[in-house]
Amino acid sequence: MINIETIISEALDKINKADIAFLEALKSEYLGKNGVLTQILKSLSEYSVEEKKKIGSEANKAKNAIEEAVEKRKDLLNKAALDKKLKKEKLDYSQAFYFPFSKGTLHPVLKTIEDISDVFKSLGFSVAEGPEIENDWYNFEALNIPADHPARDTQDTFYLDGLKNLLRTHTSPGQIHAMEKQEPPIKVIVPGRVYRNEASDASHSSTFHQIEGLAVGENITFADLKNTLAKFVHQFFGNDLSIRFRPSYFQFTEPSAEMDMQCFFCKGKGCRVCKNSGWIETLGCGMVHPNVLKSVNYDPEKYTGYAFGIGVERITMLKYGIDDIRLFYENDLKFLKQFNG
Ligand code: PHE
Repeated sequence: MINIETIISEALDKINKADIAFLEALKSEYLGKNGVLTQILKSLSEYSVEEKKKIGSEANKAKNAIEEAVEKRKDLLNKAALDKKLKKEKLDYSQAFYFPFSKGTLHPVLKTIEDISDVFKSLGFSVAEGPEIENDWYNFEALNIPADHPARDTQDTFYLDGLKNLLRTHTSPGQIHAMEKQEPPIKVIVPGRVYRNEASDASHSSTFHQIEGLAVGENITFADLKNTLAKFVHQFFGNDLSIRFRPSYFQFTEPSAEMDMQCFFCKGKGCRVCKNSGWIETLGCGMVHPNVLKSVNYDPEKYTGYAFGIGVERITMLKYGIDDIRLFYENDLKFLKQFNG
């Protein structure tokens, strides 16, 4: 009598040890044309009806069991092979930033802001920031700019909702915020982005940066302003440069002035950079207007102060000989990478 149980257990044993190539051979060894089970089924005629039934059904069960075991084993082996392959292909992200990698650099505008801030910090100024969205009070009213002044024309100002909120047109509202926060004496610079509703060209941009300076205390005079700005020019552009002041007009300073510095390029002889004048217009400044002090409840009888506003892009263009302000906003890496370090 054929022991099908034994055949099954032997077959399963072999299948579960087989590699993928051997599996097919095993399958045909049992189930193929001349396979063990096929032979058994073929030889059924030699048996009695009773035996035929029994052996036939057992042989079919065995066939199914072996087929199932082969498929299971195949799946298992395929899955293991895939796992192995994936493990090999897995990216190690910690390796992704190895050399050669390119080092980031500060944007030239930010670099200038940091360099200028360092100079003023060394002169005892602290650094503050103000919001880019301002209202009428901070951008104009508190700075002694009356409602009918042309600077409020929508040509220059980006209004956000009606005439109430706006994008600051200068960093001077930073003066008001700084004075609201503390009592004199105060020495602060406020770097930041400002907005003007105007068309851009090589020297104008609707978005640019300024650094506001403010010092308020007792007995602060124009001589202090001159001294501070001379130190700034000497530390930032060169020790041997002269500065000069020309009368000007800003609503929030009285008197107001434009400061020029001797052309650092030709040392005053006259060149392309200074348009042959020997001087370069550098910034606007003046003594804080008493109305501005009043607007933050500082006593103008007791305190005086000076303020100045530096155009960051302009200074950066001068320092590095850049002739188009739009280069700062195009994000061309070839341009930006020149300001390394
Ligand atoms: N806020 C002025 C401007 O944007 C610059 C300035 C600041 C002038 C402080 C005087 C004092 O042109």
